[in-house]
Amino acid sequence: MSQSVSSFETTSDSPTMDSSVKYTKIRVEPTSGCIGAEVSGVDLAKIDDETFEEIHRAWLEHQVLFFRDQKITPSEQEGFARHFGELDTYPFIPSLPDHPHVIPIVKERDTKLNFGGGWHSDMSYQEKPSMATILYALEVPPHGGDTLFASMTAAYDALSPGMQTMLGNLNAVFTAAKVHSSEGLYSKVDHPMGKKKDEAKEQARFIHPVVRTHPETGRKALYMDAPHVERLENMRLHESQPLMDFISNHATSPQFTTRFRWQPGSLAVWDNRCVQHYALNDYPGQRREMNRITIKGDVPY
Ligand code: OGA
Ligand code: MN
Repeated sequence: MSQSVSSFETTSDSPTMDSSVKYTKIRVEPTSGCIGAEVSGVDLAKIDDETFEEIHRAWLEHQVLFFRDQKITPSEQEGFARHFGELDTYPFIPSLPDHPHVIPIVKERDTKLNFGGGWHSDMSYQEKPSMATILYALEVPPHGGDTLFASMTAAYDALSPGMQTMLGNLNAVFTAAKVHSSEGLYSKVDHPMGKKKDEAKEQARFIHPVVRTHPETGRKALYMDAPHVERLENMRLHESQPLMDFISNHATSPQFTTRFRWQPGSLAVWDNRCVQHYALNDYPGQRREMNRITIKGDVPY
């Protein structure tokens, strides 16, 4: 009898989904066994506080929510985003004119590299990484260009107590330089990312724990995204790398993920404190255009 090395025991004592949670304003359909839900019955251009309370509850539970067939302007996307908190600014891509918090994420037909094409958590390289990201699809290829999401709480829960304790004692050195500096990934190719530079933000380093505690749910989550982590604190690179590889491979195992197929008018909102995501680059010759807003977060602990 052979056992796959990539299989995990189901932790039945710590379910991710709580089926007793009830909603009266919205419908919530989970998209996988451990992360993601599609929400229907709501127009995000105009939501009242009671509806937002339900959306927020569903969001904490499912970590990434998907909405379809939304018709919203950048101002309306900002209005929805403000329910979550204060809007963040992004230092490496110019914003929409008149909307300093709305960043166009565009892949043109002849662009080779896509934005976010590796597992990551948004702006984890800041002292206060973005809490949430709200991505709204304007134009998408007829197929391809999906986004994958992985639950970092499910990944943490699936580790053995010994590994949880060991990783719980580690910190990592976060930096934007690996992708955004003049030596970084995005500078080596023609990409809109290369058009705006913030040297100070490129070069800054911040230390965050490899296991962070979600400030609202109290759940522990792995917090180590390879594109934004240089090495582990107090370790040399060659000592850090095998541990970082283990964490990345484990954290993004298929059973911790869900996958979203976009349509024009689709909107996703994910919790960067406990989710990593990955934009697939499988639509050569096609155009894709999204508007993105990030919400300010806290110092991870
Ligand atoms: C992002 C990102 C994913 C996508 O906006 O932060 O990673 O599918 N985008 O465009
Ligand atoms: Mn991203």
